[in-house]
Amino acid sequence: MNMMSSIISNLFVTTVGNPETFWLPEQASTAAQSVDYTFALINWICYFFFGAITFTLVYFSVKYRRTSHVMVTDGPIHNTTIEIVWTVLPLLLVIVIFVVGMRGYLDLMEAPEGCYEVQVTAQKWSWTFDHPTYGATEVAELTVPLGVPVRLLMTSKDLLHSLWIPSFRVKMDVIPGRYTSLWFEATKLGVFQLNCTEYCGKDHSKMLAKVHVIPADEFEARMVKLASEYEDMSIEQLPAYAINRLYNRCQSCHTLDGTKSTGPSFKGLWDRVSKGEVGFTSREKLSELYGNNSVYGVPENYIRTSILDPQKHIVKGFLGSMPSFQGQLKDKQITAIIEMFKNLDTLTDEKGNIIVNRDGTPRE
Ligand code: CUA
Repeated sequence: MNMMSSIISNLFVTTVGNPETFWLPEQASTAAQSVDYTFALINWICYFFFGAITFTLVYFSVKYRRTSHVMVTDGPIHNTTIEIVWTVLPLLLVIVIFVVGMRGYLDLMEAPEGCYEVQVTAQKWSWTFDHPTYGATEVAELTVPLGVPVRLLMTSKDLLHSLWIPSFRVKMDVIPGRYTSLWFEATKLGVFQLNCTEYCGKDHSKMLAKVHVIPADEFEARMVKLASEYEDMSIEQLPAYAINRLYNRCQSCHTLDGTKSTGPSFKGLWDRVSKGEVGFTSREKLSELYGNNSVYGVPENYIRTSILDPQKHIVKGFLGSMPSFQGQLKDKQITAIIEMFKNLDTLTDEKGNIIVNRDGTPRE
Protein backbone atom coordinates (compact mmCIF):
# COMPACT_ATOMS: atom_id res chain seq x y z
CA MET A 1 0.00 0.00 0.00
CA ASN A 2 2.79 2.33 0.99
CA MET A 3 4.74 1.59 -2.15
CA MET A 4 1.65 1.96 -4.30
CA SER A 5 0.86 5.36 -2.85
CA SER A 6 4.43 6.53 -3.35
CA ILE A 7 4.31 5.42 -6.98
CA ILE A 8 1.05 7.27 -7.45
CA SER A 9 2.34 10.42 -5.80
CA ASN A 10 5.52 10.23 -7.91
CA LEU A 11 3.52 10.14 -11.09
CA PHE A 12 0.78 12.54 -10.19
CA VAL A 13 1.85 15.16 -7.69
CA THR A 14 2.98 18.25 -9.55
CA THR A 15 4.58 20.56 -7.05
CA VAL A 16 7.51 22.56 -8.44
CA GLY A 17 10.74 20.59 -8.71
CA ASN A 18 9.75 16.96 -8.27
CA PRO A 19 12.70 14.61 -7.95
CA GLU A 20 13.59 12.02 -10.54
CA THR A 21 11.04 9.22 -10.99
CA PHE A 22 11.21 5.83 -12.63
CA TRP A 23 10.06 7.41 -15.88
CA LEU A 24 11.35 10.98 -15.85
CA PRO A 25 14.33 13.02 -14.69
CA GLU A 26 13.86 15.65 -11.97
CA GLN A 27 11.73 18.66 -12.75
CA ALA A 28 13.69 21.89 -13.01
CA SER A 29 11.63 24.27 -15.11
CA THR A 30 8.14 25.73 -15.18
CA ALA A 31 7.25 23.59 -18.20
CA ALA A 32 8.04 20.33 -16.41
CA GLN A 33 4.78 20.15 -14.46
CA SER A 34 2.42 20.27 -17.41
CA VAL A 35 4.58 17.97 -19.53
CA ASP A 36 4.75 15.40 -16.74
CA TYR A 37 1.05 15.76 -16.02
CA THR A 38 0.23 14.95 -19.65
CA PHE A 39 2.65 12.05 -19.59
CA ALA A 40 1.18 10.67 -16.35
CA LEU A 41 -2.39 11.05 -17.62
CA ILE A 42 -1.70 9.08 -20.79
CA ASN A 43 0.34 6.56 -18.84
CA TRP A 44 -2.48 5.89 -16.35
CA ILE A 45 -5.08 5.59 -19.11
CA CYS A 46 -2.79 2.95 -20.67
CA TYR A 47 -2.36 1.11 -17.34
CA PHE A 48 -6.14 1.09 -16.82
CA PHE A 49 -6.99 -0.31 -20.22
CA PHE A 50 -4.10 -2.77 -20.20
CA GLY A 51 -5.46 -4.14 -16.91
CA ALA A 52 -9.11 -4.09 -17.97
CA ILE A 53 -8.49 -5.74 -21.35
CA THR A 54 -6.16 -8.40 -19.97
CA PHE A 55 -8.58 -9.24 -17.17
CA THR A 56 -11.54 -9.50 -19.56
CA LEU A 57 -9.52 -11.62 -21.98
CA VAL A 58 -8.54 -14.13 -19.30
CA TYR A 59 -11.99 -14.14 -17.69
CA PHE A 60 -13.80 -14.79 -20.99
CA SER A 61 -11.25 -17.38 -22.02
CA VAL A 62 -12.07 -19.37 -18.91
CA LYS A 63 -15.80 -18.68 -18.76
CA TYR A 64 -16.53 -19.36 -22.43
CA ARG A 65 -14.04 -22.11 -23.01
CA ARG A 66 -15.22 -25.03 -25.09
CA THR A 67 -16.62 -27.65 -22.69
CA SER A 68 -18.36 -30.10 -25.08
CA HIS A 69 -18.27 -31.15 -28.73
CA VAL A 70 -21.74 -29.74 -29.38
CA MET A 71 -21.53 -26.84 -31.87
CA VAL A 72 -23.39 -23.75 -30.74
CA THR A 73 -24.10 -21.17 -33.44
CA ASP A 74 -26.26 -18.10 -34.04
CA GLY A 75 -24.96 -16.07 -31.08
CA PRO A 76 -25.47 -12.31 -31.00
CA ILE A 77 -23.70 -10.55 -33.86
CA HIS A 78 -24.56 -6.93 -33.05
CA ASN A 79 -24.93 -4.89 -29.87
CA THR A 80 -25.63 -1.20 -30.38
CA THR A 81 -24.87 -0.24 -26.76
CA ILE A 82 -21.40 -1.76 -26.89
CA GLU A 83 -20.73 -0.20 -30.31
CA ILE A 84 -21.62 3.25 -28.99
CA VAL A 85 -19.65 2.83 -25.75
CA TRP A 86 -16.46 1.75 -27.47
CA THR A 87 -16.72 4.56 -29.99
CA VAL A 88 -17.69 7.42 -27.69
CA LEU A 89 -15.42 6.56 -24.75
CA PRO A 90 -12.15 6.54 -26.73
CA LEU A 91 -13.28 9.69 -28.52
CA LEU A 92 -13.76 11.47 -25.19
CA LEU A 93 -10.40 10.22 -23.94
CA VAL A 94 -8.64 11.40 -27.09
CA ILE A 95 -10.31 14.81 -26.78
CA VAL A 96 -9.14 15.10 -23.16
CA ILE A 97 -5.58 14.12 -24.14
CA PHE A 98 -5.65 16.59 -27.02
CA VAL A 99 -6.83 19.51 -24.85
CA VAL A 100 -4.34 18.81 -22.07
CA GLY A 101 -1.49 18.28 -24.57
CA MET A 102 -2.36 21.30 -26.70
CA ARG A 103 -2.44 23.64 -23.70
CA GLY A 104 1.02 22.48 -22.65
CA TYR A 105 2.30 22.72 -26.23
CA LEU A 106 1.07 26.29 -26.68
CA ASP A 107 2.75 27.28 -23.42
CA LEU A 108 6.00 25.77 -24.67
CA MET A 109 5.81 27.49 -28.06
CA GLU A 110 4.86 30.98 -26.87
CA ALA A 111 7.81 32.62 -25.15
CA PRO A 112 6.67 35.27 -22.65
CA GLU A 113 7.48 38.95 -23.20
CA GLY A 114 10.88 40.18 -22.10
CA CYS A 115 12.78 36.90 -22.12
CA TYR A 116 16.52 36.91 -21.58
CA GLU A 117 17.90 35.90 -24.98
CA VAL A 118 20.77 33.53 -25.75
CA GLN A 119 21.99 32.77 -29.26
CA VAL A 120 22.85 29.14 -29.79
CA THR A 121 25.09 27.83 -32.55
CA ALA A 122 25.30 24.10 -33.12
CA GLN A 123 28.06 22.54 -35.17
CA LYS A 124 29.72 19.16 -35.39
CA TRP A 125 30.11 18.47 -32.45
CA SER A 126 29.77 21.31 -30.00
CA TRP A 127 27.36 23.91 -28.68
CA THR A 128 28.22 27.62 -28.55
CA PHE A 129 26.09 29.94 -26.43
CA ASP A 130 26.36 33.69 -27.05
CA HIS A 131 24.95 36.20 -24.58
CA PRO A 132 24.49 39.30 -26.78
CA THR A 133 23.47 41.45 -23.81
CA TYR A 134 26.93 41.04 -22.28
CA GLY A 135 29.09 40.08 -25.27
CA ALA A 136 29.95 36.86 -23.47
CA THR A 137 30.36 33.45 -25.09
CA GLU A 138 30.23 30.02 -23.56
CA VAL A 139 31.03 26.69 -25.15
CA ALA A 140 29.63 23.40 -23.90
CA GLU A 141 28.30 25.40 -20.94
CA LEU A 142 25.22 27.54 -20.63
CA THR A 143 24.72 29.75 -17.60
CA VAL A 144 21.18 30.99 -16.96
CA PRO A 145 19.53 32.88 -14.11
CA LEU A 146 17.04 31.17 -11.79
CA GLY A 147 13.41 32.21 -12.15
CA VAL A 148 13.90 34.27 -15.31
CA PRO A 149 12.38 33.20 -18.62
CA VAL A 150 15.18 32.47 -21.10
CA ARG A 151 14.73 32.21 -24.85
CA LEU A 152 17.22 30.30 -26.98
CA LEU A 153 17.48 31.46 -30.58
CA MET A 154 19.20 28.63 -32.35
CA THR A 155 20.83 27.83 -35.66
CA SER A 156 23.25 25.27 -37.03
CA LYS A 157 26.45 25.77 -39.01
CA ASP A 158 26.39 22.42 -40.75
CA LEU A 159 23.52 19.95 -40.47
CA LEU A 160 20.53 19.03 -38.34
CA HIS A 161 21.06 18.97 -34.60
CA SER A 162 18.52 19.10 -31.81
CA LEU A 163 18.83 20.73 -28.42
CA TRP A 164 17.35 18.86 -25.49
CA ILE A 165 17.42 19.65 -21.77
CA PRO A 166 15.62 16.68 -20.18
CA SER A 167 15.16 18.23 -16.73
CA PHE A 168 13.57 21.31 -18.30
CA ARG A 169 11.38 19.16 -20.62
CA VAL A 170 12.32 21.27 -23.64
CA LYS A 171 13.60 20.11 -27.00
CA MET A 172 13.84 21.72 -30.42
CA ASP A 173 15.49 20.93 -33.74
CA VAL A 174 18.42 23.16 -34.72
CA ILE A 175 18.49 23.66 -38.47
CA PRO A 176 21.15 25.12 -40.80
CA GLY A 177 20.08 28.23 -42.71
CA ARG A 178 17.21 29.19 -40.42
CA TYR A 179 16.39 29.99 -36.80
CA THR A 180 14.37 27.96 -34.35
CA SER A 181 13.70 28.90 -30.76
CA LEU A 182 12.57 27.54 -27.44
CA TRP A 183 12.13 29.03 -24.01
CA PHE A 184 12.25 27.88 -20.40
CA GLU A 185 12.31 29.24 -16.91
CA ALA A 186 14.53 27.32 -14.53
CA THR A 187 13.03 26.61 -11.10
CA LYS A 188 16.02 24.95 -9.46
CA LEU A 189 19.64 25.91 -8.85
CA GLY A 190 22.21 23.43 -10.04
CA VAL A 191 23.76 21.80 -13.06
CA PHE A 192 21.63 20.08 -15.68
CA GLN A 193 22.50 18.01 -18.72
CA LEU A 194 21.99 19.31 -22.24
CA ASN A 195 22.15 16.84 -25.15
CA CYS A 196 22.09 16.79 -28.90
CA THR A 197 19.21 14.49 -29.73
CA GLU A 198 19.39 14.37 -33.53
CA TYR A 199 21.89 11.89 -34.90
CA CYS A 200 24.50 14.16 -36.50
CA GLY A 201 27.42 11.90 -37.30
CA LYS A 202 30.32 10.16 -35.67
CA ASP A 203 30.56 12.12 -32.44
CA HIS A 204 26.88 12.87 -31.94
CA SER A 205 27.01 11.16 -28.56
CA LYS A 206 29.75 13.55 -27.42
CA MET A 207 27.79 16.66 -28.37
CA LEU A 208 26.91 17.54 -24.79
CA ALA A 209 26.75 20.64 -22.61
CA LYS A 210 26.01 21.56 -19.02
CA VAL A 211 23.34 24.08 -18.04
CA HIS A 212 24.29 26.02 -14.92
CA VAL A 213 21.36 27.63 -13.14
CA ILE A 214 22.63 30.36 -10.81
CA PRO A 215 20.82 32.92 -8.61
CA ALA A 216 19.44 35.80 -10.68
CA ASP A 217 21.26 38.47 -8.63
CA GLU A 218 24.64 36.84 -9.37
CA PHE A 219 23.98 36.47 -13.06
CA GLU A 220 25.02 39.89 -14.34
CA ALA A 221 28.34 39.86 -12.50
CA ARG A 222 29.09 36.37 -13.82
CA MET A 223 28.39 37.43 -17.41
CA VAL A 224 30.44 40.61 -17.19
CA LYS A 225 33.35 38.59 -15.84
CA LEU A 226 32.95 35.93 -18.51
CA ALA A 227 32.92 38.53 -21.29
CA SER A 228 36.24 40.02 -20.30
CA GLU A 229 38.14 37.42 -18.30
CA TYR A 230 40.87 36.82 -20.87
CA GLU A 231 41.34 40.50 -21.79
CA ASP A 232 43.36 41.29 -18.65
CA MET A 233 45.35 38.08 -18.61
CA SER A 234 49.10 38.06 -19.08
CA ILE A 235 50.65 35.74 -21.65
CA GLU A 236 51.64 33.32 -18.84
CA GLN A 237 48.03 32.98 -17.74
CA LEU A 238 46.66 32.24 -21.21
CA PRO A 239 47.52 28.52 -21.55
CA ALA A 240 45.59 27.50 -18.42
CA TYR A 241 42.67 29.66 -19.54
CA ALA A 242 42.69 28.13 -23.02
CA ILE A 243 42.78 24.51 -21.93
CA ASN A 244 39.91 25.05 -19.48
CA ARG A 245 37.76 27.50 -21.40
CA LEU A 246 38.50 27.04 -25.10
CA TYR A 247 39.61 23.44 -25.53
CA ASN A 248 36.07 22.15 -24.92
CA ARG A 249 35.11 23.29 -28.41
CA CYS A 250 37.96 21.24 -29.90
CA GLN A 251 37.74 18.13 -27.76
CA SER A 252 35.26 16.10 -29.78
CA CYS A 253 37.81 15.98 -32.65
CA HIS A 254 41.25 16.65 -31.12
CA THR A 255 42.53 14.48 -28.27
CA LEU A 256 45.22 15.39 -25.74
CA ASP A 257 46.68 11.90 -25.40
CA GLY A 258 48.03 11.33 -28.91
CA THR A 259 45.09 9.26 -30.19
CA LYS A 260 44.08 10.09 -33.74
CA SER A 261 40.44 11.18 -33.92
CA THR A 262 38.47 13.22 -36.47
CA GLY A 263 41.42 15.63 -36.40
CA PRO A 264 45.09 15.32 -35.38
CA SER A 265 45.81 15.01 -31.66
CA PHE A 266 47.01 18.16 -29.91
CA LYS A 267 49.70 16.17 -28.16
CA GLY A 268 53.04 17.09 -29.68
CA LEU A 269 51.31 19.41 -32.12
CA TRP A 270 53.51 22.43 -31.44
CA ASP A 271 56.58 20.29 -31.90
CA ARG A 272 55.40 19.02 -35.30
CA VAL A 273 54.17 22.42 -36.44
CA SER A 274 57.18 24.43 -35.35
CA LYS A 275 59.51 21.99 -37.16
CA GLY A 276 57.21 22.01 -40.18
CA GLU A 277 56.86 18.23 -40.03
CA VAL A 278 53.32 18.22 -41.34
CA GLY A 279 52.27 16.97 -44.77
CA PHE A 280 49.14 18.12 -46.52
CA THR A 281 46.71 16.39 -48.86
CA SER A 282 47.90 18.92 -51.48
CA ARG A 283 51.35 17.19 -51.23
CA GLU A 284 52.94 20.38 -49.89
CA LYS A 285 54.97 20.18 -46.70
CA LEU A 286 54.47 22.72 -43.96
CA SER A 287 58.21 23.43 -43.74
CA GLU A 288 58.09 24.72 -47.33
CA LEU A 289 55.56 27.35 -46.29
CA TYR A 290 57.70 29.03 -43.65
CA GLY A 291 60.27 31.78 -44.00
CA ASN A 292 60.37 35.23 -45.55
CA ASN A 293 57.95 35.90 -48.43
CA SER A 294 56.19 32.56 -47.83
CA VAL A 295 52.60 31.74 -47.03
CA TYR A 296 52.95 31.56 -43.27
CA GLY A 297 56.26 33.13 -42.29
CA VAL A 298 56.22 31.80 -38.73
CA PRO A 299 54.45 28.69 -37.35
CA GLU A 300 51.97 30.77 -35.31
CA ASN A 301 50.38 32.00 -38.54
CA TYR A 302 49.78 28.45 -39.68
CA ILE A 303 47.84 27.68 -36.47
CA ARG A 304 45.89 30.91 -36.78
CA THR A 305 44.90 30.04 -40.36
CA SER A 306 44.04 26.47 -39.34
CA ILE A 307 41.51 27.86 -36.87
CA LEU A 308 40.01 30.59 -39.04
CA ASP A 309 40.28 28.94 -42.47
CA PRO A 310 40.67 25.22 -41.78
CA GLN A 311 40.09 24.12 -45.37
CA LYS A 312 43.14 25.98 -46.67
CA HIS A 313 45.57 23.20 -45.83
CA ILE A 314 44.31 19.75 -44.87
CA VAL A 315 46.68 17.48 -43.01
CA LYS A 316 47.36 14.22 -44.82
CA GLY A 317 45.30 11.35 -43.45
CA PHE A 318 42.36 13.52 -42.39
CA LEU A 319 39.16 14.50 -44.14
CA GLY A 320 39.19 18.23 -43.43
CA SER A 321 35.89 18.26 -41.56
CA MET A 322 36.78 21.18 -39.29
CA PRO A 323 34.44 24.20 -39.39
CA SER A 324 35.80 27.75 -39.36
CA PHE A 325 35.95 29.57 -36.04
CA GLN A 326 35.94 32.96 -37.76
CA GLY A 327 33.97 35.41 -35.62
CA GLN A 328 33.83 33.00 -32.69
CA LEU A 329 37.27 33.58 -31.25
CA LYS A 330 38.81 36.95 -30.46
CA ASP A 331 42.48 37.52 -31.39
CA LYS A 332 43.57 37.15 -27.81
CA GLN A 333 41.77 33.82 -27.56
CA ILE A 334 43.62 32.57 -30.65
CA THR A 335 46.86 33.66 -28.99
CA ALA A 336 45.73 31.74 -25.91
CA ILE A 337 45.23 28.57 -27.98
CA ILE A 338 48.68 28.94 -29.54
CA GLU A 339 50.19 29.39 -26.06
CA MET A 340 48.25 26.32 -24.97
CA PHE A 341 49.93 24.25 -27.72
CA LYS A 342 53.36 25.53 -26.72
CA ASN A 343 52.80 24.61 -23.07
CA LEU A 344 50.69 21.51 -23.43
CA ASP A 345 53.02 19.26 -21.43
CA THR A 346 52.61 21.49 -18.37
CA LEU A 347 48.82 21.46 -18.75
CA THR A 348 48.21 17.73 -19.20
CA ASP A 349 49.61 14.48 -17.89
CA GLU A 350 50.83 11.50 -19.93
CA LYS A 351 47.29 10.20 -20.43
CA GLY A 352 46.04 13.54 -21.71
CA ASN A 353 44.17 14.52 -18.53
CA ILE A 354 44.05 18.25 -17.81
CA ILE A 355 46.00 18.94 -14.62
CA VAL A 356 45.59 22.70 -14.12
CA ASN A 357 42.61 24.86 -13.22
CA ARG A 358 41.73 27.97 -15.17
CA ASP A 359 43.71 30.17 -12.75
CA GLY A 360 46.80 27.96 -13.19
CA THR A 361 46.59 26.14 -9.86
CA PRO A 362 47.07 22.36 -9.96
CA ARG A 363 43.88 20.39 -10.37
CA GLU A 364 43.13 17.60 -7.88
CU1 CUA B 1 24.48 17.24 -33.01
CU2 CUA B 1 23.72 15.04 -32.66
